Amino acid sequence: MTQFLNSTSQGFYKLFLRGLAMKITQLFLTLILSFASQSGFTAEADVEKEGEELYKTHCSACHGNTGGMDMSKRLAPPIIAVRMHYIGQYPDKDSFVMVVADWLEKQDESKSLMRGAIRRFNIMPPVYVSREDAEKIAAYIYDGDVEKPAGFDAHVEKMHGKKY
Ligand code: HEC
Repeated sequence: MTQFLNSTSQGFYKLFLRGLAMKITQLFLTLILSFASQSGFTAEADVEKEGEELYKTHCSACHGNTGGMDMSKRLAPPIIAVRMHYIGQYPDKDSFVMVVADWLEKQDESKSLMRGAIRRFNIMPPVYVSREDAEKIAAYIYDGDVEKPAGFDAHVEKMHGKKY
């Protein structure tokens, strides 16, 4: 009888330990996953921030808000217009980043998505950024909060019949 009691309580004890071990494993997994996703978020936010700074240094002088929507006062199309044309053709982020970085490596008229802009402004002069920086800039242009001259939305609605 004592033997029987002993073995059943041992059985319960084992079950209890197993349950505890599972709980601890689950807790660790949750912790690890939450750390991993948090550092993933910061990494992405850092790249975006860096992209924004690089954009300001290398692109904003021509593609920024100066000149507004008056193309005769501008040096280049607004970056939001560039984004619109490239997203239209390359909706997913990876392809978008690749083609924009390719453009920065070499301004190739045959690959232009903005022939009208080339006619108006002439082809973009070379900008010297590393491939890595070019990709960060492109990622920022894709989903960052980019510059948009006043009157851009109204222009797009009028010209293309859609909002952006
Ligand atoms: C000195 C002025 C100038 C600077 C600086 C500049 N651009 Fe441009 N960019 C232009 C002009 C002008 C055009 C329009 C003509 C053209 O498409 O080549 C243009 C067009 C583009 C296009 C569309 C190309 C096409 O025809 O499909 C992209 C993409 C672009 N720029 C990205 C950038 C990025 C990113 C930067 C910063 C790293 C940058 N540009 C810096 C002048 C500039």
